[in-house]
Amino acid sequence: MTLPDVVTTVPSLRQRVAAWRQDGERVALVPTMGALHEGHLALARRGREEADRVVVSIFVNPKQFGPAEDFNKYPRAGERDRMLLSGLADLIWAPTVDIMYPAGHATTIEVSGPSAGFEGAMRPGHFAGVATVVSKLFLQVGPDAAIFGEKDWQQLQVVRRMTADLDLPLSIIGHPTVRDEHGLALSSRNAYLSPEQLAVARRLNGILRDLAEDLRRRSVAEALEAARAAVAAAGLGAVDYLAPVEAETLRPLERLDGAVPVRLLAAVRLGSVRLLDNVAVPLP
Ligand code: PAF
Repeated sequence: MTLPDVVTTVPSLRQRVAAWRQDGERVALVPTMGALHEGHLALARRGREEADRVVVSIFVNPKQFGPAEDFNKYPRAGERDRMLLSGLADLIWAPTVDIMYPAGHATTIEVSGPSAGFEGAMRPGHFAGVATVVSKLFLQVGPDAAIFGEKDWQQLQVVRRMTADLDLPLSIIGHPTVRDEHGLALSSRNAYLSPEQLAVARRLNGILRDLAEDLRRRSVAEALEAARAAVAAAGLGAVDYLAPVEAETLRPLERLDGAVPVRLLAAVRLGSVRLLDNVAVPLP
C-alpha cells in the first residue's frame, strides 16, 4: 500500500490540490487531530466514496482546549497515523501550530445557536476554537466535501451552521458513529481508560438506547430520572448532561411531540475522561 504524502505548508498543499482540480477531480477533507482509530478510518473511506481524492488533516488544535484540559498530553501518533491511512488518504495535511496560527493571528469565528449549552457550556471557547480551525482548514484545502463523525453531534451542527452562514462552497457530510463490539463510541481519549473503566464505559450506549425507547412511553422527566439511576448503578460518574434536543438546533426539549427530529445527547464522567455519546430518538 502506498503511504500518503505529508505536506506541512499551505503553498505545497494548494499546489497538490490544484493539480487534482486541473484533472477535474473532486476532493474530500477529513479533519482530525490524529491518534487515529477505526472511527477516523471510516471517515476517510466515506471521503473516498464522496470524492476522487481524500485529504486527511492532522492538527491538534490548541485553540479548542481549555487551560485545564489535555492539550499537552493529547495522544500524538505521527508515523503510525500515516501507516493507518495507507490506501485511504491521498494526502496528509499536517501544519504546525506556527503555520496554522502565525504570530499576530487575531481572527476567531464564533458560531452562536448550536454552540450554546452542552459542550459549549462545559468547555467555554471550545466551539470558537473548533469553528476557527475548521474554517481555516476549509479555506486551506478548498474541498468539495468535508466528513465529520456524528459522535461529536454538537460539533457537526456547529460546522453545518457555520458553513451555511458563511456561504462556504462545500457540503458537510455526517458519518455514523463507529463503536466497538460492546457499543462504546470510539474516541482517541478512550486510551486514557483502564481495562476496568473500559468495561464500565461500555454500559453507556445501552443506557442511552434504553432511554431513547423509554422516551416514547414516559414523560421526559421520568425517563431521564430512570436513566440517571441506571448511569449510577453502572458505576459511571457524574452526568454533565443527558438531554433530548432538537437534532439540528440543539434546543432542549421538555416533551417530544414528533414534530422535529430528536437527538439524545450525553456526557458522563469516568475517572479523568468525559464520555460523549448521542443517539437518535425514534419519533413517537
Ligand atoms: O473532531 C475533531 O477531531 C476536531 O474537533 C476537529 C474537527 C479536527 C477540529 O480540530
